[in-house]
Amino acid sequence: MYAVGVLVRGPHSVLAGAADCWQTNPTHMSNAPKRKRALITGITGQDGSYLAELLLEKGYQVWGMIRRASLFNTHRIDHIYQTPQEENVRLQLRYGDLSDAGSINAVVQESQPDEIYNLGAQSHVKVSFDVPEYTADVTGLGTLRILDSVRSLGFNSRIYQASSSELFGQAVESPQTEATPFNPRSPYAAAKAFAFHIARNYRESYGMYAVNGILFNHESPRRGPTFVTRKITRAVAAIAAGRQEKLFLGNLDARRDWGFAGDYVRAMWLMLQADEPEDFVIATGTTSSVRDFCSLAFARAGLRIHWSGEGKEERGVSADGRTLVAVDPRYFRPAEVANLVGDASKAKQKLGWEPTVDLQGVVNMMVDADRQLLDEEHGDAAVE
Ligand code: NAP
Ligand code: GDD
Repeated sequence: MYAVGVLVRGPHSVLAGAADCWQTNPTHMSNAPKRKRALITGITGQDGSYLAELLLEKGYQVWGMIRRASLFNTHRIDHIYQTPQEENVRLQLRYGDLSDAGSINAVVQESQPDEIYNLGAQSHVKVSFDVPEYTADVTGLGTLRILDSVRSLGFNSRIYQASSSELFGQAVESPQTEATPFNPRSPYAAAKAFAFHIARNYRESYGMYAVNGILFNHESPRRGPTFVTRKITRAVAAIAAGRQEKLFLGNLDARRDWGFAGDYVRAMWLMLQADEPEDFVIATGTTSSVRDFCSLAFARAGLRIHWSGEGKEERGVSADGRTLVAVDPRYFRPAEVANLVGDASKAKQKLGWEPTVDLQGVVNMMVDADRQLLDEEHGDAAVE
């Protein structure tokens, strides 16, 4: 375990700059500054872990709401965890669940946050077709529970809602901006649409500082292993090491605007520092297919693949004739989102936000990390 004061700057960390979260406490006669307090739901997820690092580096007191699991589910934040017995603990974890208003109220009441980042969600689009009601409850109503907790407790917390480019679904224009109409294509996207509108509604009805970050896909070595990019990079590492024969994927034609999660959590923070609460699209502006991502990932591991066949018969084949990628229709979705690409001009203009890592950079980072992980797990060198 590492104390927060000596945060580890790993290769994929987004730790930045000097502490800049001090504020004067208006309730005290003295001008003694107090730390800003942030509450993160979903702190154990990809984005939550990067955001927690960023806020700790900026000097925040960070509270994370985690849910109980039968095994430890905190591996993404173990490097910044502090035991409660340490002095000046700046990362506090509390049990809670977005389906349980009482637990949310208790965490909000105790943490008294200046800022809340609502990142918790059943975030997998395909899984949302299997558990639609649960997804609506956690991903949709969970947001309402957060908003209403802050409203009923009378706090002034600024709230960031993790909205998604999935809202655009079968997009009616390209690229997508803050003005593009929503056309959700899954229970997940429908739940996020409710969350988006209820956040905006609380802003307009009660004057609350609640904003939506409409984030396009963002990836990292910490990405969950069932999302397509990480599924690919883990398989590439295993295939290159001779530990796996082939990779089965669904729709190779799907196109996404993939960025780096570290860049995107910076945008979340910037949105809550603005003078006025506004919604923003966050994206790189470049779209690529799942097939493209695969080719780049295999190439990074020294394996050139070419594509042959069509539809369910399409194959990714190595130079020596092995089929490394095949299509399995089990990974198709009942309704697909074909092509997403965002225009983040507003964020650039008003927040000064721009991505620093392009697709090739994300691919390199993820493939290299998964190959290293495999080496560490098995102690063997990758087979080129
Ligand atoms: P993620 O890795 O799947 O993390 C989701 C987090 O939510 C985890 O910490 C998870 O806890 C927690 N969670 C799940 N169900 C919960 C519940 N019932 N109560 C409390 N917490 C719960 O997702 P991510 O990629 O970091 O994304 C963060 C947020 O941004 C999500 O809301 C996602 O929908 C949204 N988003 C993501 C992207 C993207 O490309 N990554 C793009 C747009 C929007 P466990 O660790 O215990 O599972
Ligand atoms: N997961 C997965 N697995 N996706 C596959 C596969 C596969 O084997 N084969 C093809 N795909 C296609 C999917 O059909 C989809 O079109 C695309 O790859 C991306 O899938 P995911 O990586 O699962 O991400 P997503 O775009 O559905 O959702 C992610 O991004 C959203 C932002 O647009 C999630 O992070 C959401 O939480 C997020 O809101």
